[in-house]
Amino acid sequence: MRETTEDYRPFAAQLSNVYLTILALFCFKLFVRITLNLLTHFYIIKGNRKEAARISAEFYDNGQGHGSWADRSPLHDAASQGRLLALKTLIAQGHSVNVLTIDHISPLHEACVRSHFACARALIDAGANVNVTTIDGVTPLFHACSAGSLACLELLLQSDARPQALAIFQPSPIHEAVSRGHSKCVEALLAWGADVDYEIPHMGTPLYSACRCKEFICARMLLDEGANVQRGTHIETPLHAAAQKDCVSIVKLLLEFGADINARNLEYKRPVEVAPPGSLTEGFLLIYEATPRSLRHLCRQQIRESMGRSRLHLLPHLPLPKAMKNFLQYR
Ligand SMILES: *[C@@H]1O[C@H](CO)[C@@H](O)[C@H](O)[C@H]1NC(C)=O
Repeated sequence: MRETTEDYRPFAAQLSNVYLTILALFCFKLFVRITLNLLTHFYIIKGNRKEAARISAEFYDNGQGHGSWADRSPLHDAASQGRLLALKTLIAQGHSVNVLTIDHISPLHEACVRSHFACARALIDAGANVNVTTIDGVTPLFHACSAGSLACLELLLQSDARPQALAIFQPSPIHEAVSRGHSKCVEALLAWGADVDYEIPHMGTPLYSACRCKEFICARMLLDEGANVQRGTHIETPLHAAAQKDCVSIVKLLLEFGADINARNLEYKRPVEVAPPGSLTEGFLLIYEATPRSLRHLCRQQIRESMGRSRLHLLPHLPLPKAMKNFLQYR
């Protein structure tokens, strides 16, 4: 019995030591935090908000992973945090708006990726390059599309930014907007001249991306703008992708726009054969195959084909009854 208590005592002492150590560490951390807070407060009182912001960003934001790159400028930080006043002050103090990090990220990239419209505008007004590209080929426009920020996107486009990637291996803004379902951004890009059938090898066309990501509204918008319903990747058509994803609404949409139900992919399979067995899509495609197309459906397709993509927007001006025009536009 005695032995056990003797064994137990040193252990208890160790335990209290551990607790003491933790307590000491905690007190030390608390002390550091209070000191930093006081320091920040002191800077704010002295009117040096910039230094105060820097201190708090450095000591409290390091968990976010973006505040700690050594080569980021104060402009990057202000743009990323959406601090317009600080940003304008820095610009007025003569900081260059086109300062880049090692991987060529500009303050404009930062403002766009976080949808800080006012900061993006201040940067562009001060002469920021709207076509600036990171070493990965990412432009501010691409970031605006990822974030779904229509305001930033339109600002960039109005400022003469390139609506489309320069080369097929660069990240494509329209694919990004489509795959995230930002249909308004897709609409703006198309209005500013992005190619609706822009095909990149690993992702295919925007329509194919919409099908893979089950983005019905984007798919509809692309088709309305005259996207080629048969063009997907070199491997398969958009209908294959929609069937594979078991997305009946998009499958119906594609078929209505004249997708070929008998198209074969690289493995020589038809859409019905890539749909999940027993799925709704498979059932729908089987019935569709067995049903003859209606004459008016075939006529509509024929008329649209003869008009051609570049003239589809003239459909509303044809001297036809309104019901007919609506029908031709799938409305
Ligand atoms: C951006 O690039 C596009 C196409 O490369 C060009 O037409 C446009 O003038 C450029 N914009 C600016 C502001 O340099």
